Parts: sequence; structure tokens; C-alpha cells
Amino acid sequence: MILDFLKRNWKYYLIGVLALITIDLAQLYVPRLVGKIVDKVEFFTNPPPSSLYIVFSNDALMSFVKSFSAWIIGLALAVFLGRFVWRMMIIGSARHFEKQAMRTLFDKLLELDPIFYGKMNRGELMSRFTNDLRAVWRMLSAGVVISTDAAFMSVMSIVMMGTFVNWKLTSFVIIPMLSISVVVIFFGKVIHRTFAQVQESFSKLSGFTEESISAVRIIKSFSVIDEFEDMFEERAWKNLEARMKLVLVSGIFWPMVRVIGSISAFLSLLLGGKMAILGEITIGGFIAFNSYLGMLVWPMTAFGWVVNIIQQGRASLKRVYQVLESEPSVKENPDSASLEKLRYIEINDLDYRYPDDKRFVLRKINMNINEGNFIGIVGTVGSGKSTLAKAILKFLPVERERIFVNGMDINDVNGKSLRGRIAYVPQEGFLFSDTIYRNVTLGEDIPEEKVRDALKTAGVLDEIEKLPDGIYTKVGERGITLSGGQRQRVMIARALVRDVDLYLFDDCLSAVDPETEEEIIRSLRSKMIGKTLVVITHRLKVLQDADWIYVLDGGNIIEEGTHEELMKRGGLYKEMFLHQTVGDAV
Ligand SMILES: Nc1ncnc2c1ncn2[C@@H]1O[C@H](COP(=O)(O)OP(=O)(O)OP(=O)(O)O)[C@@H](O)[C@H]1O
Ligand SMILES: [Mg+2]
Repeated sequence: MILDFLKRNWKYYLIGVLALITIDLAQLYVPRLVGKIVDKVEFFTNPPPSSLYIVFSNDALMSFVKSFSAWIIGLALAVFLGRFVWRMMIIGSARHFEKQAMRTLFDKLLELDPIFYGKMNRGELMSRFTNDLRAVWRMLSAGVVISTDAAFMSVMSIVMMGTFVNWKLTSFVIIPMLSISVVVIFFGKVIHRTFAQVQESFSKLSGFTEESISAVRIIKSFSVIDEFEDMFEERAWKNLEARMKLVLVSGIFWPMVRVIGSISAFLSLLLGGKMAILGEITIGGFIAFNSYLGMLVWPMTAFGWVVNIIQQGRASLKRVYQVLESEPSVKENPDSASLEKLRYIEINDLDYRYPDDKRFVLRKINMNINEGNFIGIVGTVGSGKSTLAKAILKFLPVERERIFVNGMDINDVNGKSLRGRIAYVPQEGFLFSDTIYRNVTLGEDIPEEKVRDALKTAGVLDEIEKLPDGIYTKVGERGITLSGGQRQRVMIARALVRDVDLYLFDDCLSAVDPETEEEIIRSLRSKMIGKTLVVITHRLKVLQDADWIYVLDGGNIIEEGTHEELMKRGGLYKEMFLHQTVGDAV
């Protein structure tokens, strides 16, 4: 990502770096220019004896001063322009990088599947978006600017020391400076490691904070505020420890760089002084040498700084890459077939276990979902119903020759196109903090009438029209301003509004009363002639008209058939059905 970016944007960086060097030169030149004016004015007012025969007029003197002043203003403008250019080029490019990286990261996050999100917490991901990308941005902006400036200024000062004064003395003085590189390499590694710990502990902290805010009502209602405060304290403390370690490391590193600088100054005084006494260099040269050495102080400090910035940027970049390099657990075959229409699904002896888990969650599942059928899936809690739904949606990696879509192995069918033909309402739904209308359309261009129609079929339109802004009412974060049952029905409308071949509902009416659930499913059936409907539910009454019902227990299909057949069999289904209808009879 970063190399790609630099490859495409090196021109901007080059322009920026050139601008930076230009203003360095201009700035080096200004003092010399001022010096020249002073010398000239001195020359005009106090001409040396050899030039006595030249007659100076005041006009000549004035025009000379004017032209030099113009030079100085010109240079100042050039510095101004140069600064503008490097800011736009270098800092601007780094901002472009940040934006692009966010986009890449966001695309990646949408590509990854439930298994990835099972491992990585939201707050931790968010801190990679914010904190880590900021550190990378700093490396690409301030890092580049400071290192260019420092490298150029140090080379210039050394060249000046050598050419204008004495190379021998210069080489003595810069030897200690070389030892800085050793220090930089050592401390660079330590800073890298420590900063990685800082970012890691910070993302744990922000992850925990994020989760606590989401769960604030639960925390309050269970009166576990103290416990959560303690847990926060523990994470905040870990972060502080890591940060203090960084302070300690930087606290040793920076002064150390300065100490090495002082050694150079000491050598300069000692050796330079001696050379001046011996007449190897002039007194003026000796003074000049020391002022150049003074010019080296900034680049040396800057090196320390830049090492910090670059090491922190690298540590953060690694964390960003960790996300970018995560692969979806379901590998998409590059020449997978795109699905135009979903006709039927066939499952053959499907066994499934989640990655890193020894238990089989599904065992020898055989199932047929045919075009236009109404299929019911029921079963005990944790029997694998939702897992089965996710496998059909290609959210989970399944072996070859187990699930067939239109007769093709699901592994050869493009996942996106498959999901484009299925409207799935998951068990744990989600509403965005937006209007009901937008929650149904999800940003797609769908006419209002169609949305109303879907809400009506889902049996929630009347209630929504009573809200202040009807279907344009905002629902608050995660739909907090709607009741549980209303939320579920809005999510059903979200599925209904889409023109697909299969509707897959995973226990998505558990919060409405049984009569309403039955009615919704009935009106759905009458609306969707020719569409396939798969309903996972705990309410068996809903499935009385189903074409086929599968009964799951502990990952196995233990019974299957129509409602009548299953009732005749007298197994788990009948037992569950009677249990549920007892209440109705009384
Ligand atoms: N992401 C996961 N990683 C590991 N195990 C999982 C994961 N999701 C579910 N399981 C396990 O798989 C089993 C089946 O879960 P599943 O959600 O499919 O059950 P279910 O039939 O939908 O239950 P319910 O009726 O409560 O919705 C459970 O034992 C559960 O612990
Ligand atoms: Mg479930």
C-alpha cells in the first residue's frame, strides 16, 4: 500500500523536497547578503585609500542599497513560496495517503466475515483507523520534512566546515557524530517495540470503552459500575505503563544525542584551539568553524526526533497491515460463476465446525430447498440453525461437494452474487442511526411507495405512521427509539423491499407476539408467489403450511416432513408443538 502510494506520488514528494532545499539555501544566503550590504555601506562611507580617486554620489549609494533591499524582499518571498509549496506537496500528499488508506481499510472491513469479527473487537479496529493512521501520516509528512531538512543542513554545515576551514579538523569532529547512528539503531528498535505496546494497550482501552458505552444500560441495571470502573482502571494503567516506558526511552535517547554533540564541540575547542595556536588555521577560521558546528545542533536533535516519528509510524503501519492482510475465511475463487437467479439449494452430508473449535456444530445435514417452497427449520437452542443459514449465505467456509446452488458447488459460485439473490434477516439485527426509510433502503434508490408497502406487509406501517415524522423518523443509535418488535419488523421490511429469489429469516420475529408472527408470515406468503421462503423459528404454529420442515437437535436433523407427518410421527416436533399450543387451548 505504502510503496504503491509512493510510486504514484514520488513527483509531489520530489517537488516538496526541492522546495525545502531551496528555502534552506535561501535562508543560508540571507545572512551573507546582509553582511555584504554592511560591507558595501562601510566601503562607500569609509572608502579605503586605494579607491580615493573614485567619486561617489549619494544617488549611487542609494540605488545600491535599494537593489540589495529588493534582493532581500525577493528572497523572503521565495522562502514564503517555497514553504507553501513543500507544505502543499508533502503534508498534502500525506493527507491523501491517509484518506486512501482509510478507504482501503474500510473496504477490507466490509470484505471480512463473521469469523474475523469474532476475533477482533470494534474499538480496537477503530483505533487502527484513527490513532495508527495518524502515526503513519506523521511519518509521511513531518518524518519526510524533518529528515530532508536535517540531512541537508548537516551535509551543508560539514561541507562548509571542510572547505572554508579545515578538513582534518572537520573529520575529527564528525567522528563522534557517526556514533549517533549506533545509538539511533539501538534506540530505534526499542522505540519501535515500546510504541507498538502503547498502541496495543491503547486500542484495548478504547475497545473496552466502546463496549462499555454500548452496554451502559446493562452496566447500570446490574449495578456493576464499580466492577467496570476497576476493569477500566486496569486497562488505563497498562496503557500508562507503556507510555511511561516510552517517555523513559525517549528521555534517555534525546539527551544522549545532545551529549554526543557536546563531545564534538569539546573536540572542536580542544583540537581547533590547538591548531589555531599552531597557526594551522586562522583565528577567524576557528570562530567560523564553531559557528558551523552550532548549525549542526538542530539537525542532530532532528535526527532523534525523526527516529521517533519513523519508528512509531512503522509500528503503526504494521498494525494497519495486520488488518489489511487478514483474509476472509471464505476464499473467493477468482473464476467463480456469477449467479443470475437462484433456483434451488441442495445440501449433502454437511459437517461443520467453526475454525479452532473441535466440536462439530452441524452433522450430516441433508437438505433440499426448491424454487417456490416454504421451508421451516426448527430445533432446540444452539442446535446449529443460524450456523446453517450462514453456511448457505457463504459466510462460512465449507468443504467442496457439500452445498450446491443450482447444481453448482457453492465454492464455485460468487458469494456476492449469491447473497444478491437472497434477502437474509439475521437473528441479531442491526438498525443504523438514521431514518426508518434509509434503514429499509440501506442507501439504495427505492421508491417510497415500495418501502411503505414492505413495512405494511411486515405489519409495522400503522405504528410507524404514528411516529412524528412517519417513515422519516430517525431511530437513534441501533434503533434505540423503537420497541424490540418494531425493530424486528423494520428489518423484515428491509428484506421484503428487495427483489430476490430466496427470503431467509432467522428467528427474526421472536419479539412480536405469536399471533402477529403468524399473520406476518401468512401475508408474506400471499405476496410472494413463486419466491422461496426459509423460516427459522421457535414458534411451530407459524410453519403449519410449510412445504417441508426440518427439526434440528445437537447439529443433526432428527426429523423432517410436513406438519401433519411430523405430528403423526410423535417425536420432538410433536412434543414441542403440543407444549406451545397448550397455552392457546386453555
Ligand atoms: N462464531 C462462532 N464460533 C464458534 N462457535 C460458534 C460460533 N457461532 C456459534 N457457535 C456455536 O455453534 C453452535 C450452534 O450455534 P447456532 O447459533 O447455529 O445455534 P442456533 O440453533 O441458531 O441457536 P438459537 O436457537 O439459540 O439461535 C452453538 O453451540 C454455538 O456455541
Ligand atoms: Mg440462532
